[in-house]
Amino acid sequence: MKIQGRTFAISGGASGLGLSLAQTLLSAGANVAILDLPPKDNPSSSSSSSSSSSFETHPALSTLPKDRHIFIPCDVTSTSAITTAVSHLQKWISSTNLPLGGIIPAAGIGLPSLILDKSLQPAPISSIDFVLSVNLRGTLDLIRQLLPLLASVTPVDEDGERGVIIMVASSAAFEGQMGQVAYAASKGAVASMTLPMARDLSRFGIRVVTIAPSMFESAMTAQLSDKVRKGLEKAMEFPVRAGKPEEFASLAKHAIENPMLNGVVIRLDGATRMPSKL
Ligand SMILES: NC(=O)c1ccc[n+]([C@@H]2O[C@H](COP(=O)([O-])OP(=O)(O)OC[C@H]3O[C@@H](n4cnc5c(N)ncnc54)[C@H](O)[C@@H]3O)[C@@H](O)[C@H]2O)c1
Repeated sequence: MKIQGRTFAISGGASGLGLSLAQTLLSAGANVAILDLPPKDNPSSSSSSSSSSSFETHPALSTLPKDRHIFIPCDVTSTSAITTAVSHLQKWISSTNLPLGGIIPAAGIGLPSLILDKSLQPAPISSIDFVLSVNLRGTLDLIRQLLPLLASVTPVDEDGERGVIIMVASSAAFEGQMGQVAYAASKGAVASMTLPMARDLSRFGIRVVTIAPSMFESAMTAQLSDKVRKGLEKAMEFPVRAGKPEEFASLAKHAIENPMLNGVVIRLDGATRMPSKL
């Protein structure tokens, strides 16, 4: 699908992999709507209950072309916040006339926790719920609420393609490490729903591709200690380094452009297979 002249909605697009993809899509001539939590120093801009039609800004997006992106504050764990965000997006699309071309739910959190710790304390259900709520429910809810908009777009090519969904799983979908039960559950579910979602949406000319990255440089992995980082490097084949956000963005761009990629989970991991322990 041609990227130029379309609008892409990216959750978690104010940081890391989502931000890099936003930059790549903007360079390819698209408009980008970034749905993310409000910046920490401006919590009043939360959209959870906002019905305002004015769009906010985010400091992480200050270098993006102002007339071609919007930041819509949105906590993806809140169905009503997504509903409000979708309505903002619809208004923006009406004003730009660049139809929706894709949905990229990239918002995600790690929050490691052993299912049972050394003192026999089970993992708090609140932390399990939180991980599932952002990574799985938030992904599904965002897609679910944006789909009517994407499925209403006039098909753009001879295949009748309307758009593409790019979901973000993880190596943890296949080889979750210690402490990653909830994260692996959320990412395994994202990987598992790729094919049925593609099957549901084929009648609308909407493709679904999931990318499963290994360790990539981002705010999420910046928190890792040197010891953990070195341990992860030992498990790497080639190249022996974390992935770069632009390498994720480059694959996502290709997945949008290549109509034969559909219903598939693509590992982006340099052949790394995560060990149990580091
Ligand atoms: N970086 C890695 O090594 C790696 C590896 C595999 C998968 N992933 C996945 O890639 C995706 C992007 O992660 P990243 O590495 O860029 O991390 P990141 O922390 O840089 O970016 C995640 C973004 O999601 C946003 N977010 C978190 N909770 C949210 C919520 N409730 N509502 C809206 N936005 C929310 C954050 O504010 C942040 O901007 C995630 O789904 C993550 O699980 C990352």
